[in-house]
Order: sequence, then structure tokens, then C-alpha cells
Amino acid sequence: MRVGDKNLRPIWQDEETGAVKVIDQRHLPHRFVVEELESVESVVAAIREMRVRGAPLIGVTGAYGVYLAAREARGAPEDGFRRLCNRIKAARPTAVNLSWAVNRVLEKTAPLTDPGKRLETAGAEAAAIAEEEAENCRRIGMHGLPIIREVMARKRSGPVNILTHCNAGWLACIEYGTATAPIYAAHDAGMDVHVWVDETRPLNQGARLTAWELGAYGVKHTVITDNAGGHLMQHGEVDMVIVGTDRTTGTGDVANKIGTYLKALAARDNGIPFYVALPSTTFDWRLEDGLREIPIEERDADEVRYVYGSDGGVGRRVLVPPAASPCANYAFDVTPARLVTGFITERGVCGASRDAIKGLFPEKFES
Ligand code: MRU
Repeated sequence: MRVGDKNLRPIWQDEETGAVKVIDQRHLPHRFVVEELESVESVVAAIREMRVRGAPLIGVTGAYGVYLAAREARGAPEDGFRRLCNRIKAARPTAVNLSWAVNRVLEKTAPLTDPGKRLETAGAEAAAIAEEEAENCRRIGMHGLPIIREVMARKRSGPVNILTHCNAGWLACIEYGTATAPIYAAHDAGMDVHVWVDETRPLNQGARLTAWELGAYGVKHTVITDNAGGHLMQHGEVDMVIVGTDRTTGTGDVANKIGTYLKALAARDNGIPFYVALPSTTFDWRLEDGLREIPIEERDADEVRYVYGSDGGVGRRVLVPPAASPCANYAFDVTPARLVTGFITERGVCGASRDAIKGLFPEKFES
């Protein structure tokens, strides 16, 4: 995506050296740091420590991880390669894109016995997944745009106010983002859009990343505390909500960043449409009950305990609660399908039910 005079992606492979490079998102927006992923271990660490994050990007990083696994396992027994791939899949549990992407590259490469051919195929497949995710997000923007247009037509005056949670922008994907794709499309079409950006504690992906992305692209936005959304909805300041997701069941239950469920409840209480934007790679077609079946990641309590920020250009980590207070860090929650107005996918928009999802993706439900 355009940032100043540059076109950036969160992950890329150096054309000459083959090196896999990522933007280390922990330092944004105050420092722009690029890191090379040199090994499977560095891929696992990058995903775990959230240098890269967001469901589609975790998937693409995992796919490049298989490429690095093929390089590391050259000449080693076959189960060594598979063990490395399993390590990558276990790096974070909630986003289904990770295991999906690793499995896809694994299936393509496992039958190849020539190490050079395996390496080449793994790199090509990872690159193909990245391009497909970029295209998925472009199409999500195309299909989401008419929804924003409709809201604008109904509203007649003033900007369309869209609330979003966490970062489901290009930093979390490859291009455009999922939740942000319709917003960027509306902005490109000259429409007046304004985004309420939930700060998204504890790691502040909204305040740090979404605000940075939108600002760099020239989209009007305001960062709010995580608890402000309900108040704004009650006062007519939110026209619609669009969020991303890390895993959505074939029946329409949505796992996304912790706090999404509360936004969906407030939206329903105030009659505000609540949309979830996702590529088909984020559906877990096998699952039927999101609350029981989607694994919810619990992360280090220190992420709750400390807040990071910039102090005149110097990164600072500050303790907030009493040092002795226990903290808990649930990273995701599940919004039941009944609270979701619709899904914006690369194939179009559908309701949040098994039948509606099946209408767009019939082949996924064939047994
Ligand atoms: O913990 P994170 O930052 O990886 O969580 C990301 C989200 O919750 C996003 O909303 C989700 O991955 C969708 S990304 C298009």
C-alpha cells in the first residue's frame, strides 16, 4: 500500500537473494524496522512475538516458513521437514490461516524428493498465496463499497462513520486489509468516510497500526478508547461497524480480537449494522460452534501489565497496575453469528448462517 512515496507490503522476498523480509510491527508507528526471517525458528518467534500478526499475514508468513524449512531440512530425513512445519503451525492457535497456508505448501512440496525442486516450489507457492490474499482483499473492498455507498445515500449529509477494532488493515494482510478494504475503496472513490479506531488494548493494534495506516493513506480517523464505542453508538455517531476475523466457523461464529463481541452487542442494541470482512482462507469450514470449538489464545500477562509507547523518540515500557496484581490476557473472543449482519468476502456479501455462507462457497460444504 502507498505510504508516502513508497509502496509497502508487510512481507516480501528479496528478488536477488531470496531473503524473506518483514516489517517488525512491534515498533510501529514510531520506528520503521525491517527484519529478515532467516530460519524456521525466526519465523516461529516472529509470529509468536507478533512482529507479524493478523490472520492472512500469519498465514503467508507460515507459508514462507515452509520455504525456510525446506532449506533447513535439505538432506535430512523426511520427518525432519514435517517436524519443522508442525512447529510453525503451533506458533499461534487462533488464526486458522496459519495451518491452512502451511498445509497447502506442505501438500505441494512433500511429494518432491529433490531438495532444490522442493525449495523452489515452496517459495513459488508461498508467493502465490501472498498474491491471492492481496487479490482477495481487493475484491473484499469491491464488494464492501456498495454497502458504504448505501449508508451514505441513506444518511444524505456528513461523513459515513465506521468503527473498527484492532488492525485488519494491509499490515495484517498483504494489501488493502479486510475490514479496511471497503474503507480504502470508498476513500479512493471520493466518498467522505471517517473511521473510529478502537485503541485495542493490550497491544494497541488500533492506536498504533490502524491509525498509522489510515493516516498515511489520508483517511479521516479518530482513535478512541476501547470502551467509547457504545457511547458513540448511543449518540448516533457510528453508522456501521466493520471488523476482521481470525477464524470464522462454517455456521458464522466469528473469533476476532478481544472486545469484538462487546462491540457487536452494542451495535445490536443500537440497530447498527455489524459487518465482518474476511477472505475464504479465514473460514474454518469444519467447525459449527465457535464458542466451544475455536481455540482462544491466552498470551503473556505482561502484555496487560505494561504499556509501550514513545517518549520523545525513545521507546518506553511502563508498568500500569500494582506489580503484585495478577493479570490475565485473553487475546480473542467469539461473536455469535446472530449478532453479525453480514460477511464481506472475495466472492460477495452474505448473511451469517450456514446456508448463506454455503450459497457463496458451495464447494466447501461438499462432503
Ligand atoms: O493478535 P492479532 O493482532 O494478530 O489480531 C489480529 C486481529 O484480531 C485481526 O482483526 C484479524 O486477524 C483479522 S486481520 C485481517
